[in-house]
Amino acid sequence: MFDLSVQLAPKNRRGLLLRNPVLTASGTFGYGLEYAELFDIQKLGAIVCKGTTFYPRAGNPQPRLAETPSGVLNSIGLQNIGVEALIKEIVPVWAGWKVPVIVNIAGETIGEYAQVASRLDKVPGVAALEVNISCPNVAAYGLEFGTSPRLAAEVTAAVKAATSLPVILKLSPNVTDICEIGIAVAEAGADALTAINTLKGMTIDIKRRRPLLGNRRGGLSGPAIKPVALHMVYELAGVVNIPVIGCGGIASAEDALEFIMAGADAVQVGSAGFTNPEAALEVLTGIETFMEREGVKSLSDLVGVARR
Ligand SMILES: Cc1cc2nc3c(=O)[nH]c(=O)nc-3n(C[C@H](O)[C@H](O)[C@H](O)COP(=O)(O)O)c2cc1C
Repeated sequence: MFDLSVQLAPKNRRGLLLRNPVLTASGTFGYGLEYAELFDIQKLGAIVCKGTTFYPRAGNPQPRLAETPSGVLNSIGLQNIGVEALIKEIVPVWAGWKVPVIVNIAGETIGEYAQVASRLDKVPGVAALEVNISCPNVAAYGLEFGTSPRLAAEVTAAVKAATSLPVILKLSPNVTDICEIGIAVAEAGADALTAINTLKGMTIDIKRRRPLLGNRRGGLSGPAIKPVALHMVYELAGVVNIPVIGCGGIASAEDALEFIMAGADAVQVGSAGFTNPEAALEVLTGIETFMEREGVKSLSDLVGVARR
């Protein structure tokens, strides 16, 4: 057998040891409950749940999803039930699962991020936090936290101070230099990075002569963004010494292996699950098949090999 295990928070006292490197991406797998009825989700490395804010959020006007060539545009607007309902209704289910669940958190202010993080600290069933910094900062006229090294570092420090859970910072690709942001959040105490969130985009309905999405603009995901995500992971892995989780257009084991060889310690499968609900599981079994065929004993022997 092979060693697929991965420690995603080596610098954190609680750690985040996963049995394998395949996770689901936030917002594409709900709370895992529906998928649990479709396949054995307990086999996955971890599940990242949809973005959670302090108060419940209704989200953006419809339509919120639009297909584009090789990708999906979404503008969900962080619709979610809020942290209290999450803790009451959903987390107790996770506490009985073998697969660790990472809660993706979001906020409109640095204080809100800290409040959500503090509320989730020491709640059985929560293994770690993933911080979505692709959110507008109401105190700075909507400037996204993830586009400023200073703001991104401030969110990181505030969340770290509010919890002992491992804290993963999820980076936005909508920046000039993602390495600058990655270095800033690593220095502020992030235990790991996820790269990347969606790329900004839009599509127009020419019959109605209006943007197709209710919110006009959205975030692009799927195969179209894979080369961009792969490059960003490659760059980040060269400048930080914390684990990097690759995300963006991963639909097969081959895609995942590219990210791992670029330097990712783990991967997340997102939009691919919309057309193939078992995509994440197939990525995992495909990695195992590759390792067997190539005589690779430990996943760590593959991490970053393309960098040499
Ligand atoms: C419908 C939808 C909802 C999403 N919601 C969130 C979210 O709440 N928080 C977050 O950090 N990322 C969210 N994302 C971004 C994904 O987690 C992921 O970073 C992105 O889709 C790229 O991966 P993919 O190409 O494999 O889908 C969402 C993506 C989609 C398509």
